[in-house]
Amino acid sequence: MKTLGEHIVDKQSEFPDATGELTSLLSSIKLAAKVVNRDINKAGLVDIIGSTGVHNIQGEDQQKMDLFANEKFKAALEARGQVCGVASEEEDEIIIFNSEKGHNGKYVVLMDPLDGSSNIDVNVSVGTIFSIYRRLSPVGSTPTLDDFLQPGSAQVAAGYVIYGSSTMLVYSTGYGVHGFTCDPSLGVFYLSHENMQIPEDGRIYSINEGNYLAFPPGVKKYLKYCQEEDKETNRPYTSRYIGSLVSDFHRNLLKGGIYMYPSTSTYRNGKLRLLYECNPLAYLVEQAGGRASNGFTRILDIKPEQVHQRVPFYCGSLNMIKKVESLIQEHHTQES
Ligand code: AHG
Ligand code: MN
Ligand code: MN
Repeated sequence: MKTLGEHIVDKQSEFPDATGELTSLLSSIKLAAKVVNRDINKAGLVDIIGSTGVHNIQGEDQQKMDLFANEKFKAALEARGQVCGVASEEEDEIIIFNSEKGHNGKYVVLMDPLDGSSNIDVNVSVGTIFSIYRRLSPVGSTPTLDDFLQPGSAQVAAGYVIYGSSTMLVYSTGYGVHGFTCDPSLGVFYLSHENMQIPEDGRIYSINEGNYLAFPPGVKKYLKYCQEEDKETNRPYTSRYIGSLVSDFHRNLLKGGIYMYPSTSTYRNGKLRLLYECNPLAYLVEQAGGRASNGFTRILDIKPEQVHQRVPFYCGSLNMIKKVESLIQEHHTQES
């Protein structure tokens, strides 16, 4: 059985500028994931459940586990010197690693250290999402905001960890999507899902339907389409929504399906963050043969303007995304 470490080294030879640095970076993420995994497994026994009483820059309640995961990933990413800075859901501003080692790092990492954190209190799967770019500023200098505001198409690697009934790390460096399952007795990730492909046609739709009244008309129409009976297209589809993006994405990646977080009355641009939630998952889904869109544009083509910007997100099986995009655009045209 191949370990994650062995696989990363093997794949390294496929990078045009193979240096081993990205290998080392991915290995830091793996180590932090193990630490976070260990503590999540003890939730209920140690004091990591619940809120810190603090709100992050987006006005969201920070959970104790959000902060713990943020610290662990930051420390792991700083330790080896490959990374010059980090942007995180839990940090108002970008974090620059201000040391000679840090300034010499070639990469920036954007992350959602703990996705779905409110689910920890109820023992439901959560995750970590990460996105890696080569910096634009010269190596050796202080990194700049522009290093972090690159379109998703410039990612050199992305992935997620899912802390579920088993713990998995799924990543891509642009050569397919590969999944590794952690053997808890050894603390080792083994290759379990090589070259993952999302079915072109799925029959699962994932959306918080409680927001139905605020959805754009095209999305409302698509939901009715999902619910209609039609033998030929295998409808009605089935509805599954965990409320942990990583978990919903992971299930749809394996089984085929669509994840949607449209604009709502509370969140005019949707709830999900472009840089550290949507871009990495868009990169993975495209690598797996699927599609990710804001309803009009490919997610990976959007030029970011702010670290914490939100975007409506439609992600999953190719034909399902094309269908919802066509309905969103049809209705948009009718209205304007
Ligand atoms: P986070 O815990 O990082 O803030 O992310 C929560 C996100 C995402 O995981 C999930 O899909 C979505 O919020 C659920 O939102 P709703 O509760 O509004 O459906
Ligand atoms: Mn999240
Ligand atoms: Mn989070």
